[in-house]
Amino acid sequence: MRTYSFISIQGNVGKSSIVYNFSRYLASKDYKVLIIDMDHQCSISRVFKCDEKINTVKGIFTNEKVKIKNVSENIDLIEGSYDLDSVEYQMINQPNSDTLLLRWLSTNMNKNLKLSSKYDVILIDTNTGFESSTRNSIAVSDIVINVDVPISDSKRFKDITLKQFKECVVEISDSISTKSYVKPKYYVVGNVVNLVFEDSRLYIEELKESDDYLTYFIEKNSFSIEKYQNNSNTKEDSDLFKPYRDSFEKILSAK
Ligand SMILES: Nc1ncnc2c1ncn2[C@@H]1O[C@H](COP(=O)(O)OP(=O)(O)OP(=O)(O)O)[C@@H](O)[C@H]1O
Ligand SMILES: [Mg+2]
Repeated sequence: MRTYSFISIQGNVGKSSIVYNFSRYLASKDYKVLIIDMDHQCSISRVFKCDEKINTVKGIFTNEKVKIKNVSENIDLIEGSYDLDSVEYQMINQPNSDTLLLRWLSTNMNKNLKLSSKYDVILIDTNTGFESSTRNSIAVSDIVINVDVPISDSKRFKDITLKQFKECVVEISDSISTKSYVKPKYYVVGNVVNLVFEDSRLYIEELKESDDYLTYFIEKNSFSIEKYQNNSNTKEDSDLFKPYRDSFEKILSAK
């Protein structure tokens, strides 16, 4: 089982869209997927029409019940919560607040919910920035993906994100033990790339030079999560994902 978190310090870059479409791609290949919706706007939960607002992801931080819901074939979801902002605020300065998800997952991995035998991949859609829910997500991830878009200040954003990521890993590790066993691999994935424009072409050339570069997604309306207001079937999925297959496979096989 592998766990991925999709992060960014800028909003609206496509984290939720990538997590959502990646989950459907994996499901169409018969992978069993669990999505944990840490996005405070609950984008993915809303698309899956999963909005009961009870037993949400919030329970991981508040010790309330958390329910895993089946939302589509091969895809289960821990519903997001609009209350995460205030939950995070209350957790400031609380000891071990960055490792509550780690604790919850370890408890449920082999015992209670037997997550490790149920899922091949866990995908975490994080909220923008490095607040506690994102730090918790990083603490449990094998792979952390910084979703980045072609903008003029992109290099600066990438440098800041990598610095904050490294600091976060050190801080999380120290809070558990002196041993650093939180060791996610960090990658950058470009999104909303339109190679018709010179800006995008230069952006990709520069991105490819970086050691952290993994792949990129082109700009296409069909890639957004809005496309899926009504859940589509697997045949549509597989046609839709043709242009993105290489990118999904690169994410899947990232070391
Ligand atoms: N490759 C793409 N091509 C075209 N539009 C895209 C692409 N990826 C995302 N979008 C669009 O960009 C907008 C933001 O996407 P999304 O909500 O996934 O971003 P986010 O990073 O999760 O945002 P937030 O910070 O609010 O959580 C949406 O309207 C989505 O449809
Ligand atoms: Mg989002």
